[in-house]
Amino acid sequence: MVGRPFSSRVPSDLASNRLAAAVADARGSGRPLVDLTLSNPTRAGFEYPDYLLSALGDPRGLKYEPAPFGLVSARQAVAREYSRRGMTVSPDRIALAASTSEAYSLLFKLLADPGDEVLAPRPSYPLFEHLARLDAVSLRPYELEYHDGWSIDIASVERALSERTRAMLLVSPNNPTGSFVTRPELKRLSAICAERGIAIVADEVFADYQVRPGACVDAGRVLDVSEGLVFSLGGLSKSVGLPQIKLGWMAVAGRDDLVRNALARLELICDTYLSVSTPVQAAASELLSRAVPVRKQIQTRIAANYQTLAAQVERVASCALLAADGGWSAIIRVPSIGSEEDLVVHLVGDGVLVHPGYFFDFSHESYLVVSLLPSEEQFADGVSRVLRHIESL
Ligand SMILES: Cc1ncc(COP(=O)(O)O)c(C=O)c1O
Repeated sequence: MVGRPFSSRVPSDLASNRLAAAVADARGSGRPLVDLTLSNPTRAGFEYPDYLLSALGDPRGLKYEPAPFGLVSARQAVAREYSRRGMTVSPDRIALAASTSEAYSLLFKLLADPGDEVLAPRPSYPLFEHLARLDAVSLRPYELEYHDGWSIDIASVERALSERTRAMLLVSPNNPTGSFVTRPELKRLSAICAERGIAIVADEVFADYQVRPGACVDAGRVLDVSEGLVFSLGGLSKSVGLPQIKLGWMAVAGRDDLVRNALARLELICDTYLSVSTPVQAAASELLSRAVPVRKQIQTRIAANYQTLAAQVERVASCALLAADGGWSAIIRVPSIGSEEDLVVHLVGDGVLVHPGYFFDFSHESYLVVSLLPSEEQFADGVSRVLRHIESL
């Protein structure tokens, strides 16, 4: 065949990197590796009640009644999730998706033409680059800055705007910074976006999890925005610790006429895929109402690990823990003696795996990102391996 038959939505270079090779090597040799990148809650030793998934066998799952936004009972259950967090949203303004990642893709189709631009926070979650590229939209970063705590650099948002900007992504709390969007930030950003016809897409998958007491209540709430067009995204993968069940959602708010128009178009997109299985929709209400014990375990784990990390890092003068408010990860500033990549590859040799900051597109080196999900024992062991290595440099 002449030329390649593939689109440029998928990168042409699929070779694995040096870190992935070091990890494969360590795992292949059978040496123990403490994984401080673990982000899969189903492998973190939480106790999931036996009855948690029993509703998936509900006979309603035997009947196929296609509904673009999902079964009303499931959308009502999602509306109750928002009211648990103090927000009111009508089930008519909620659409289901197979995951939050899929919800992004559906919204990019709704909001942007190929070549249009979407603003995304930096540092943030690396999947955005792929999600945007697969829908042929370009990501334009705006900066989160750190001075004893994270904030959104609003001037960098204004600099990133262009004629082609269609949406702004907010992640609250953000992965990996753990920063929630504050109420004053949300007020400024919703005014900037509404004025220019730019939608806000707020990823609130971690909104239930705080490491600073009171952080969830203090945060800005996008569904309270009444100007422009805003979407709040969530899903079972974080709120119930069940990524394998595949249920996410979008809730829409803003100016009424924009919301109506958005929903009419979104309905057509969702109707084209009908991607959420009926058994999970029929089970949604039970799954969400039975989630409390799992969510509590995750909350207790992340808070305990964050405290352990703070205590261990404090003893090492050359390192600092960046203050986080919530989410499942934490960031350690480390001395820039070599590159981040060299450091994490050496750490694999010392039996511990962490993310290098560049994975999340930090504007400079050197940072390490750790997940707060591993068991408390593994976490403490992994962190002490990291800090011992750094002290030995
Ligand atoms: C900020 C953020 N949004 C979305 C997701 C993915 O969620 P889902 O499993 O619903 O696609 C993740 C996963 O780590 C995430 O960190």
